Amino acid sequence: MVVESFSIPSRIVNLRAEAAFTVLEKAKLAERKGIDVVHLEIGEPDFDTPRHIKEAAIEALRRNETHYTPTPGMPELREAVAEYLREVYGVDFDWKDNIAITVGAKQAVFAVMLSILEEGDEVIYPEPGYPAYSSAAAYAGARTIPYRLTIDNGFSMKAEKLSEMITPKTKIIVLNSPNNPCGSVMPSQDVKEIVELAEDHKLYILSDEIYRPIIFDDLQHYSPLNYASHTDRVILVDGFSKRYAMTGWRLGYVAISKEIYPYLVKVLNIMTSCPVSFAQRAAVAALRGPQEPVYDMVREYEKRRDVVVEELSKIQGLRFIKPTGAFYAFVDVSHILGKIGKSSEEFVLDLIENYGVAFLHGTAMGDYGEGYIRISFANSVDNIRRGIRRLKQAVEEIMGE
Ligand SMILES: Cc1ncc(COP(=O)(O)O)c(C=O)c1O
Repeated sequence: MVVESFSIPSRIVNLRAEAAFTVLEKAKLAERKGIDVVHLEIGEPDFDTPRHIKEAAIEALRRNETHYTPTPGMPELREAVAEYLREVYGVDFDWKDNIAITVGAKQAVFAVMLSILEEGDEVIYPEPGYPAYSSAAAYAGARTIPYRLTIDNGFSMKAEKLSEMITPKTKIIVLNSPNNPCGSVMPSQDVKEIVELAEDHKLYILSDEIYRPIIFDDLQHYSPLNYASHTDRVILVDGFSKRYAMTGWRLGYVAISKEIYPYLVKVLNIMTSCPVSFAQRAAVAALRGPQEPVYDMVREYEKRRDVVVEELSKIQGLRFIKPTGAFYAFVDVSHILGKIGKSSEEFVLDLIENYGVAFLHGTAMGDYGEGYIRISFANSVDNIRRGIRRLKQAVEEIMGE
């Protein structure tokens, strides 16, 4: 008998997929066994996509806009993105030369990394952090250099420490504010100093601003675009998933320099040819239509954030910072893990099976996430209270033993 042997390339074996989906699967399995699980693991708005956005897609379907569009997206949408960037950042991007629509911000991250990284280049990225940064950089052959975010540094990157990490091989610094999973927002001074550092060293900043409008306590969001002396070295990644509750539509975008743009478009061309045509029509309506649904969602996230903080404060032995953006609290549970001798992943699985509540283990966001769990507040106030009270019960039982 001939046994066919095959090998999977190491770049695929080593690719780190997003573990949030694995935890969700585990929680669903527990539900099939009859366990009632409160879901605080997934980073996805629980709101419906606003009606006028859905209507725009339905209208596009009726008009038979069901064909390929240009690879970087339909001109109307790129124009709408350029208008938005002008309005929000006061920066001029040309829709023809700078703006590309992608299949989610995740594809944007991948395509940018593939477009500019050479084998051996170094990418500094926040860790714990959204896993696509390191996966995409490693896939492109780069060395991934994590910048450790902790409660003690306010979950924010600082220029001083970054300057010690930069080498002649460094090509990109990734920023993500508001931050997943930490719920932090970078202060203006940190952003400004990092921009100056990057300009001095001629580095690119990849700024992932997908949570930009989801910000609390009347804080302001600061982008590298606010401080860059020219936009050529700032690559903006954003998307529609979080802001407009459009995760399933798979739409993001990149604003990038004219020099890199054709190469980025080439990568997108090979990957997907173009984003979904009628979804792009919906995105035009999202950007140009009323923004009240966004403000309403943000107000609701802020209320939920307060509930998360209120409930977590009742639990002894946890450390956390009040989240100021995105919809996550990142909670230090190392004290509890030390007592039970388990990893954050084992703890999270125990909580699903034995207490009916699902969180994301910190290591889903990189090794530096060990000791933490991420609590998503993209769920109702009732469920947030129920879920965190289940955590309280678990912690009390463990610590009381
Ligand atoms: C920080 C960050 N960037 C990008 C994404 C990707 O979003 P999407 O591909 O749905 O646009 C996510 C999704 O969770 C995220 O948390």
